[in-house]
Amino acid sequence: MKESPADIARCLDLADVSRHAAEEFVRLANEATVANGRFTVALSGGSTPKALYTLLAGNAFRTRIPWEKVHVFWGDERCVPPDHADSNFRMVRESFLDHAPIPKENIHRMHGEEADPGKAATSYEATLGETFGLAPGQLPRFDLVLLGMGDDGHTASLFPHTAALSETKSLVVANYVEKFGTHRLTLTIPVINHAAQVIFLISGGSKAAALKEVLEGKEDPQRLPSQFIQPVTGKILFIIDHAAGTGTFSSPEGQGVKQMRSQYGCF
Ligand code: 6PG
Repeated sequence: MKESPADIARCLDLADVSRHAAEEFVRLANEATVANGRFTVALSGGSTPKALYTLLAGNAFRTRIPWEKVHVFWGDERCVPPDHADSNFRMVRESFLDHAPIPKENIHRMHGEEADPGKAATSYEATLGETFGLAPGQLPRFDLVLLGMGDDGHTASLFPHTAALSETKSLVVANYVEKFGTHRLTLTIPVINHAAQVIFLISGGSKAAALKEVLEGKEDPQRLPSQFIQPVTGKILFIIDHAAGTGTFSSPEGQGVKQMRSQYGCF
């Protein structure tokens, strides 16, 4: 992250992170809809964004989003059926899609159930081609890509020292992840870095060491893949809570977390 200092919203806890992210989502959804007539968002899997998804579909935010113009995609997916406990689609459906009036035809799921993960990746690439009207070799420009980060510095399904980290042509790949002994479907780095806005949601003390290394440590993206995420013309925002930011809270005020700056109820 050495090139340009990342934009960081420092929040108190996961609830604050989720509220801040929901405000950003509303802002971006309305701006994109006014500018382009729709809002394209690649959603993150994992557990951190669940609270955000529930908030967006809840009373405080649901009336502020032009749902019929929202197109949802996934940043990555496990190679399991859509009703499997590990499915990112299932997590998003239960916390978000079952409660928000997004038209069915605007929900673009990765088919993790496909027996051949390579075929699933190719077919999602075709979905991107159709929905974004891409010419051969053209990258889709998501209005927003939501990402989480693992305690090993991975993001989406871009895990340390895996083949996907070197992919420069495909939009979507089936990435073999040794530590799970399985493939994962994931958007590739060029696609994520072509987004208008990338937002990392990072919460919890287990992420603090990796986050400090990603933001302030030596450039080593093969070991810390989140360092590969540097939008070419778009923006990047890290929305982090106190526990995740402990290592990076050494603010100029010197007192770190005690001198919190507040923004949107975040610190
Ligand atoms: C996934 C995610 C993955 C996730 C991180 C953080 O499929 O699991 O895409 O990249 O964002 O592993 O996960 P938590 O939010 O559960 O900590």
